[in-house]
Amino acid sequence: MAGPAHEAFAGGAAVITGAASGIGEGLAREAAALGMCVVLADIAGERLEKVAADITAAGGKALPVLTDVADPTALDRLADRAYAAFGSIRMLVNNAGIETVVYSWELPIERWEQTLNVNIHGVVHDVRAFAPRMLADAAPAYIANVASIGGLGVMPLQTSYILSKHAVIAFSECLYLEMQLQKKPVNVSVVVPGPVATRIFADATASEAGASAGSATAHRGIMRRMLSQSGLPPRDAARLILNGIAAQRFWVSTHPEITAHMAKARAEHLASLATPTLSDETRQLLAT
Ligand SMILES: NC(=O)c1ccc[n+]([C@@H]2O[C@H](COP(=O)([O-])OP(=O)(O)OC[C@H]3O[C@@H](n4cnc5c(N)ncnc54)[C@H](O)[C@@H]3O)[C@@H](O)[C@H]2O)c1
Repeated sequence: MAGPAHEAFAGGAAVITGAASGIGEGLAREAAALGMCVVLADIAGERLEKVAADITAAGGKALPVLTDVADPTALDRLADRAYAAFGSIRMLVNNAGIETVVYSWELPIERWEQTLNVNIHGVVHDVRAFAPRMLADAAPAYIANVASIGGLGVMPLQTSYILSKHAVIAFSECLYLEMQLQKKPVNVSVVVPGPVATRIFADATASEAGASAGSATAHRGIMRRMLSQSGLPPRDAARLILNGIAAQRFWVSTHPEITAHMAKARAEHLASLATPTLSDETRQLLAT
């Protein structure tokens, strides 16, 4: 199990949000296999207990903490529990996230609020809850915020998700610079996964009525099939992510070629102040 991730993380404690499924679950299982004590946070209680029980049964140390990342005070409680249990936290991964597929104006108020609260405020307030203690610790620590390759582009109907991922990237860039000013060994990474085979589109809100109904259902179905058929297995994604965090890379990717392609396309688009254009690929994706 030797390697950069093992060297950086073995014997330390990790806190992972959204740890009851997909990428977060993969990260929890892989971090435990590296010899980390893992604090697992999620709203899905049963799945959370199952992942924790599996890790414990395999000889690892797991502390499940039922947490709604949309509630800033729950994140304060999560930090209190994590520090009370392990004294020091080496890695914090803000991974919990949700998807929506619907025209912006058709997404109900509650789901708009929920998406922004989970995908953006969940990340911001978890950093607010943990960073002061990580800085006070003076030991090397790692914060990784999970955005998406979607944060490097735009996509109609996934608007609330896409804007939240742009925000996570901008937040992480500012946070990285803030940590530089502090001159403390707290490293910041932003994770931009490509397609990973998880339940995220199965759980996504897709409009069933209104102008986007047909497109939304088609789009969600295509994305769901694409992830299950050709998405990276979550544990493979988790290994790549942990190695990237350990190497103190700011941009951590699961699909470097797609990430580079999207970043270049976005940079060129912005450099020429181009008007947003629907590509043939996007039209096809949204075909009803
Ligand atoms: N799967 C992909 O292809 C992909 C691609 C790019 C980015 N991402 C990002 O990776 C992250 C993980 O997604 P995934 O694909 O593993 O999805 P997933 O649906 O399999 O897992 C997400 C987990 O977050 C939990 N969660 C949802 N709301 C929560 C809340 N309020 N509080 C606590 N936990 C909550 C869910 O219960 C679930 O266990 C997300 O931020 C997602 O945007 C995924």
